[in-house]
Amino acid sequence: MKPINLWLLLLLLHLLHATADHESPSRTSIIFTTLGRSNYAFDIFTLPALDPPTPSNELQLTDGKSVNFNGHFPSPSSSSILLPSQSPGSQPVHLIYVSERNGSSNIYYDAVYYNTPPSTRSRSALQIPSRVQVPLLRPDIDKGKTVISMKDKPSLTGDDHLIYVSTHEDPGEPRTSWAAVYSTDLRTGSTQRLTPFGVSDFSPAVSPSGLWTAVASYGDRGWTGEVEELSTDIYVFLTRDGTRRIKVVQHGGWPSWVDESTLYFHKRSEEDNWISVYRAIIPSQGPISTESVTIQRVTPPGLHAFTPAASPGNHKFIAVATRRPNSSYRHIELFDLIKNEFTELTRLVSPRTHHFNPFISPDSVRVGYHKCRGDSNGRKNSQLLLENVKSPVDEITLFRVDGSFPSFSPAGDRIAYVDFPGLYVVNRDGSNLHQVFTGNAFSTGWNPVLKGVVYTSTGPEFGSVDTDVDILSIHVDDEFEQVGRVKKLTSNGKNNAFPSASPDGKWIVFRSSRSGHKNLYIMDATLGEDGGLHRLTDGPWTDTMCNWSPDGDLIAFASDRENPGSGSFELYVVHPNGTGLRKVIQSGLAGRTNHPWFSPDGKSLVFTSDYGAISAEPISNPHHYQPYGEIFTVKLDGSDLKRLTHNSFEDGTPAWSPVYIRPVDVEWLNNGPSCNFEDCHWLNKMPKQGSMGSNEAQCGVA
Ligand SMILES: *[C@@H]1O[C@H](CO)[C@@H](O)[C@H](O)[C@H]1NC(C)=O
Ligand SMILES: *[C@@H]1O[C@H](CO)[C@@H](O)[C@H](O)[C@H]1NC(C)=O
Ligand SMILES: *[C@@H]1O[C@H](CO)[C@@H](O)[C@H](O)[C@H]1NC(C)=O
Repeated sequence: MKPINLWLLLLLLHLLHATADHESPSRTSIIFTTLGRSNYAFDIFTLPALDPPTPSNELQLTDGKSVNFNGHFPSPSSSSILLPSQSPGSQPVHLIYVSERNGSSNIYYDAVYYNTPPSTRSRSALQIPSRVQVPLLRPDIDKGKTVISMKDKPSLTGDDHLIYVSTHEDPGEPRTSWAAVYSTDLRTGSTQRLTPFGVSDFSPAVSPSGLWTAVASYGDRGWTGEVEELSTDIYVFLTRDGTRRIKVVQHGGWPSWVDESTLYFHKRSEEDNWISVYRAIIPSQGPISTESVTIQRVTPPGLHAFTPAASPGNHKFIAVATRRPNSSYRHIELFDLIKNEFTELTRLVSPRTHHFNPFISPDSVRVGYHKCRGDSNGRKNSQLLLENVKSPVDEITLFRVDGSFPSFSPAGDRIAYVDFPGLYVVNRDGSNLHQVFTGNAFSTGWNPVLKGVVYTSTGPEFGSVDTDVDILSIHVDDEFEQVGRVKKLTSNGKNNAFPSASPDGKWIVFRSSRSGHKNLYIMDATLGEDGGLHRLTDGPWTDTMCNWSPDGDLIAFASDRENPGSGSFELYVVHPNGTGLRKVIQSGLAGRTNHPWFSPDGKSLVFTSDYGAISAEPISNPHHYQPYGEIFTVKLDGSDLKRLTHNSFEDGTPAWSPVYIRPVDVEWLNNGPSCNFEDCHWLNKMPKQGSMGSNEAQCGVA
């Protein structure tokens, strides 16, 4: 009875929320980019652990909607309370996983009933399962605040508590992760924080009895900006209330228990630099500390093995993700703990796709993982131009756009964006997509007065002061196709970028390295630098990513002037005549705040920042250069900082729309996911190449 009520309540609240959305003058909209997102058509799949891994043995467990990842097979006893009714005769596969459907992260429980037993080798029969699908976290908890946060790495305990990561509480310190472990009682909905306040924990794993939870944590060391090397430690605490918290492993991540005193984890070997799986044995008697815990290396050098999964009482094998020197793809393998041998699983099924974060069923017969549901050229599902993301701020609607450096036309009806290489313009409803520039371009901005004029910079991104980057104006309307769309506004052979036009359409502010440092300049919007230059800032540092306010009175930009060359950027505003320079936000020691963009009323800025640090172990995701990037807004006086996005991906290049956009997804008219993304690039580095050369052709077993 209870679970049905819970589910109905949830649905009702969703519907109420949806109908409450209507246009209002005080409402605005923001678009931003998430690196790689349009390729992450992730679903959870499973292969039998002991039968041969063949394509017909692989089952897709999740429903092919949204992005589904980081699964967990609960024990049948814990999941029985969730099921409204057990249909006699057929045993479902139970699954708990994270999904980003409906614009925010939630944890779902699915019971997947197959028409024929999974052991039957008939793929067509297996592909039409019926399912029960229940979102596990309710929107009314904590007055809705927990709804908009990242959720990650769920497990279910025997007494119906869901243990998971959420990012809904601001620790109040810049560059401190908001990720913490919570426990929600699924019968009452009450939620308890298990991580001490001010500490961040990732990758929780519950011991077989449910008594202990292990996490990867920065403890009191804090995040120092790293995204490749794991500098977390493993802590263990009581699942019941987070007490008896003890550090058991110095330097390690992604714990997984096999029994009440043994867990597996990954770290990079200090001797040979291969990322490897280790075992930690916690003494059953006497004091527990990093000294009394026994650590043994499990996987050998010669390949990277990480994100281990053990299953209760199974001392025979674990599942791991690997990167082998002879493969460009991340695959799931079993590691035999007795023979010390790997058994490949996913390479024999889908050799040219990355597979992530394995998990094993409690009876050790199934291995689960997530991968892209399309094949590597797969164009299966419709893809979104604008994905509506639930906004924690009522007055702001939020959209993930499928392109970088987006900007709105003055009327808000068109979007210019970059998709390397090239610059594109598309109507906001997804129609009339056309490429207006084929070269490498970054940043876009429209002239507010001259119709159909977009500014961009062309050349390599992140170039040095000596890199040749120039500012272009591009006539994007069709009538210019014959006479030439593109005009170069700079030509001094230095790094000129991030053009933004004044509201009267006459001037452009941009950054240039012509003096030997990247500072801000203003030039004529039509004649370019030939029409004369006005220098706005001057100093041996970098000022960049400028944006002109809608009333023309201020220019916002990012600058590392407090610590030149450090990579740390703060946001400033200055009047176009060079007076009134003022810092808007301090990003914290060594922090980054970038890509400021004014709100339509000119009173706030939206920007991307590492203020919330990272939210998950980066190795558990595809590659992100800046996985800490999240979107924030702040008032011009530096007050009222608000975090808008919560995920473990890189969110960046936000732009504020001149008009309000209703919170609904906008589909591309004809496009689909291509499943084409990069694995963590540091995994390409193999410490010792040995005799195994990289030979990608051998992976091509279809
Ligand atoms: C949630 O998203 C699914 C598709 O992923 C859709 O079918 C469903 O109607 C949405 N539910 C609500 C309450 O918006
Ligand atoms: C510079 O501009 C600001 C605001 O636009 C104005 O208040 C100020 O008087 C100007 N200063 C000079 C020296 O022109
Ligand atoms: C990569 O090397 C391993 C171990 O030598 C071997 O078993 C496997 O078949 C190789 N894979 C490919 C794709 O060549």
